[in-house]
Amino acid sequence: MPIAEPTSSSFSSIALESIALESIALDLPWVRSQFPALAQSAHGHPAVFLDGPGGTQVPQRVIDALADYLARNNANTGGAYHTSRNTDRMIAEARAAMADFLHCDAEEVVFGPNMTTLTFAMSRALGRELAPGDEIVLTLLDHDANFSPWKTLEEKGVVIRTVKFNEEDCTLDMQDLASKIGRSTKLVAVGYASNAVGTINNVAEVVRLARQAGALTYIDAVHYAPHGPIDVRMLDCDFLACSTYKFFGPHMGVLYGKHEHLKRLRPYKLRPNTDNIPNCWEWGTLNHECIAGIKACVDYWEELGRRANPAATSRRAAILAAHEAIHQHERKMTEKMIAGLLAIPGLKLYGIRDPRRFDDRCATFVARIEGHTPLELATKLGERGFFTGDGNYYALNLTEQLDVERLGGFLRIGLVHYNTMEEVDRLLGALREIVG
Ligand SMILES: Cc1ncc(COP(=O)(O)O)c(C=O)c1O
Repeated sequence: MPIAEPTSSSFSSIALESIALESIALDLPWVRSQFPALAQSAHGHPAVFLDGPGGTQVPQRVIDALADYLARNNANTGGAYHTSRNTDRMIAEARAAMADFLHCDAEEVVFGPNMTTLTFAMSRALGRELAPGDEIVLTLLDHDANFSPWKTLEEKGVVIRTVKFNEEDCTLDMQDLASKIGRSTKLVAVGYASNAVGTINNVAEVVRLARQAGALTYIDAVHYAPHGPIDVRMLDCDFLACSTYKFFGPHMGVLYGKHEHLKRLRPYKLRPNTDNIPNCWEWGTLNHECIAGIKACVDYWEELGRRANPAATSRRAAILAAHEAIHQHERKMTEKMIAGLLAIPGLKLYGIRDPRRFDDRCATFVARIEGHTPLELATKLGERGFFTGDGNYYALNLTEQLDVERLGGFLRIGLVHYNTMEEVDRLLGALREIVG
């Protein structure tokens, strides 16, 4: 199958069309004032939060929304009384907010405990339709949450085909992907961005190739969501999953499913659960206080966007403006970080390193330094107030293929929009000092 040229940025194709560029600027002092956690210190040093890929901090309004819900509206749904009705209304508002975040209809938004659980639920439901010999295409670049839930379908005779990545820059091998999609392909599951090496995949092209073959697509946008705008309508994907705790909200997962699929597929569910979507995909009692936090999280995105572009005419437009401002700020930090990391003796940086291709990566960096384990580096950085990650971050196929799994994986430094250029400088200084 012919493959279209990668877009220079999946970001720009969505956001720029509707926003006047010159009006976009990130109000960083305001941003930082919103996140109480950023004012903390650790071991006598100001805390620097560089583990956004593991989970981001939350603005005060998210904390307030959780507390307020528990204090004033704590109830189950569907009751004929005040707090229950307020709960129903609040969930509907949060769903509508997430629909604007993803650009879909509210009834296409499914809430769940986290992306992994939602993906297992969907793999079980899709698995009911699959027959021995049907194929699912997965990638070795993906987090295991978009791999193992599908691989378990091998027990039904489903054939798993895995797509390689180019080791040199950790980008998906699109030729290999195209060659793995065929007449028997029923589903292509791919990550929007790698939570380890930061590569942004050309998911629009993956969806196009899958669609040509009549296959469904399942996009893992967990890592991408804090960094770039998501437009499921434009992508025309069938499913897309993300986790609000990665984009400044509470610990919850969100699944977008195309209306026709949510309606047609048969979820495993309890009998009293109606067949109405999306509730038939949401089992048991949801985490209402966190859902209140999700609404507050999208409110934060909206306000951030309106500060960047006061002319934004809708919540969706404001969210896109927020993304544009974030993109520019993260881009500058990426340039500084990569130049600084590459200058550290004995450091090997994985993923895209060429500044001309920085639009195809996000501000997530993994490295190894000769003579130091990732755990040792993360520990020493932690003692200096820098919170970084170490290990495989569940991107297990990637660390195995790069042969770093047996060596403790990588040191991961993950920037999000509340990080600063000054923090990047200080981190680089601390690393230089540790390496000696
Ligand atoms: C890219 C990616 N996908 C999936 C997941 C799993 O998300 P959750 O913790 O919501 O199950 C993560 C978590 O780190 C991730 O980074």
